[in-house]
This record gives sequence, C-alpha cells and structure tokens, in this order.
Amino acid sequence: MKKKTSTKLIRGGINRTNFSETSEPLFLTSGFVYKTAQEAEKAFKEEKKRFLYSRFGNPTVEILQKKLALIEEAESCWLTSTGMSALFSIFMSYLKNGDRVVSARALFGSCHHIVTKILPRFGIEVELVDGTNLNQWELALKKKTNLVFFETPSNPCLDLVDIKEVSKLAHKSGALVVVDNVFATPILQKPLNYGADVVMYSATKHFDGHGRVLGGAILGSHSFCENIIKPFIRNTGPSISPFNAWVLLKGIETLELRIKQQTKSAKEIISFLEKNKNIKKIYYPTLKKSKQIKIAKQQMLDGGTIIAFEIKASKKNEKKKSFEFLNKLKLIDISNNLGDSKTLITHPYTTTHHKLEQKEKMSLRITENLIRLSVGLEDVTDIISDIDNALKKSNKII
Ligand SMILES: Cc1ncc(COP(=O)(O)O)c(C=O)c1O
Repeated sequence: MKKKTSTKLIRGGINRTNFSETSEPLFLTSGFVYKTAQEAEKAFKEEKKRFLYSRFGNPTVEILQKKLALIEEAESCWLTSTGMSALFSIFMSYLKNGDRVVSARALFGSCHHIVTKILPRFGIEVELVDGTNLNQWELALKKKTNLVFFETPSNPCLDLVDIKEVSKLAHKSGALVVVDNVFATPILQKPLNYGADVVMYSATKHFDGHGRVLGGAILGSHSFCENIIKPFIRNTGPSISPFNAWVLLKGIETLELRIKQQTKSAKEIISFLEKNKNIKKIYYPTLKKSKQIKIAKQQMLDGGTIIAFEIKASKKNEKKKSFEFLNKLKLIDISNNLGDSKTLITHPYTTTHHKLEQKEKMSLRITENLIRLSVGLEDVTDIISDIDNALKKSNKII
C-alpha cells in the first residue's frame, strides 16, 4: 500500500543491522574491507553489489537517499556535501563545451554566480530570462537548448515559475529541466509531477531544520542518477559525510510538522505586516493581491516558511532603516541561513546577493529596504511582538 508522506519521513529507507536498533545506524567509516582479494576484484567489477568506499556509497547515506526518493516520488536520489555542490554536479556532469543553458534570472547569489560566471568559462552559452514571463521563456527556447534551470519560489523575492508550461517549452527545445525546490520543499511542491526532470535541494535548510549540518540532494530518473550523476560524484568527490546524512535523517523526520507549523506562522506574520504602516510591500506566493497566486495554487500546496518584505523609508535611508530594524530585534537572529526552527532574518542586498551587480539587483527587486524572513517554530505572538517592537524603534528614521 502507498504510504503517506509523514509515514515515509519516519519509516522510509530503513535498513536495520543485525543489532535491530530503533534509530538508524551511523556508519562513520571511509572504507570497507574484503575477506579476500577475489572479493575486492568482484566488487570493483560490480559483479557483487556491496559498499566499497564512502565517497560513492555508504549505508547511512543510502538510507537517506532512499527516504528522499520516496518522499519526492522520484526513481532515484543522490546526496552531496552541500546544495551548491548538488547544483554544480548537475551542471558539470550533464553539460559540455558548446552547450546552451536558459535560466531564470532570479536566483540565490551562489546559483547566480555558477550560471553567469562559471558556466561561460567552460564555453557554455547562458541566457537569462524573467522566470515569471512565459513569452521570454518561449523566445529563449526557440534556440536549441540543453538545460533549463530555475528556483520556484526564488530566493529572496519568491518569484514563481510555471513548472508545467516551462517544462513543455524546454522539452520541445531538447532541454533537461532542473528545479531548485529549496524554498517549497517536497512537502509543498513536487516539480517532477509537473514535468521537471531533476530536482535539487540544499538539505542544509528545511531538511535538517535545526541549523546543524550542510548537505545537498539531487533527485530524478534512475538513468540520470546512475549514468550521469553517480560516475561524476564517484570520481570527483562532492560527497556527503555519513555523519551529516545521519543528522539529516533525524531532522527530516519532523519535516512535514515543521513546514506546516512554520507556514501557518508565516501567514499570521503576513497578516500583521499587511496592517503595519512601516511596511511598503510584501512578497509571498499565496498573497491574495499577488499576480502569481494562480500559479501558486496550481503547483504548490501552500506558500511556505519564507517571507520577503520592503520597509518604508526614503531612498537615501533604505539601508540605514533596514539595519536599524534588524539591530533592534531581540528574539529573531540575523543570519543568512534559512529553514531553521529558529526565526532568522537577513538583508539580501548586503549579504546573500551582495556580489550581484547593482543593475542585476535592481532588476530582481533586491533593494536596500528588502528584508527576508525565515519563519521558525517559536510562538508566533513572540515573533510578531519582536518585529513590532523593532519596527517601532526604527521608526525615527524616515
Ligand atoms: C535557493 C537556494 N539554493 C541553493 C542554496 C545553496 O545551499 P548550500 O548552502 O547547502 O550550499 C541555497 C542556500 O542558501 C538557497 O537558498
């Protein structure tokens, strides 16, 4: 019988040892031993399925891979050391000199760096489009393309890309569709069900959910993971530590509970922000006034745990007032991380996106008064009261 997500999160992928332990075992070992030289030879010839070396296979890592594949409803999963190494492994294993990539412009700073600065150095042509504009996708994909990449919702302004329509256009152009699903998580959105070919995650974020370890995940078809990703990771080594995989196994058990509670709190915070005269604009996928609510309803179960908003200030004081607001917070921590049980806040202009050129920042609405809030698990009335007090204290700056 097909199990529900909450059951898969707890039970999926379990592979108990002879000791019949309750909690998943941690195999903190770099290598494995063979009884005979013949056994080692057979293992390397892949005549016998067994673990050889933790760079490309480890029992603890495999439990998490199986669990994530079940949750995502993907044929296969491969784990990496970080979200960025997941994305870089996808690009470097699939693309070659002379290929073409079409990507949404609204990306996390490091994703933007790979796409715009690193890929062109390898002779890969890159075209950026406004991910929310289907006409731009259609035009860019008239030219034969090898890979399409986007985040939906995007970091930090939560732009949505229509996964179904863009996947159709991309496939006509011969492209593999890769979606960064970090903000939505598999609890709220499953891109593979809307036509995407590959989904990637920073497991560092909601999967851990407690800000402890780094990790990344790549999910897709069996043939993509086995034939493209596995040989790349096996030979180049952006592998996850078994210890990090074990920590993630514990974190992910509560993923659904956390996402639902944090999303509920995010909506209560939005109701407060909507009434506050110090707030100029709010970005969130399911806002009633949002132009993108139709797409949100089509492909997301809910809006998620992240909110972005602009503080009202004169142009010359945007940064000053935003900093004053952040510095006056007593409960919420200033941090560029997200998806944590602790509520975290950041100023994208000067942190996660500071390396983008000014023109690119402006085209992505990353202004000096933009704030990104990752809603945690504290009582929502305490979070709102902290925001309210800090806004009042920064009010003197106009
Ligand atoms: C949307 C998005 N993708 C990828 C990453 C990179 O993940 P990691 O920090 O695990 O490398 C981040 C990190 O903030 C992110 O926000």
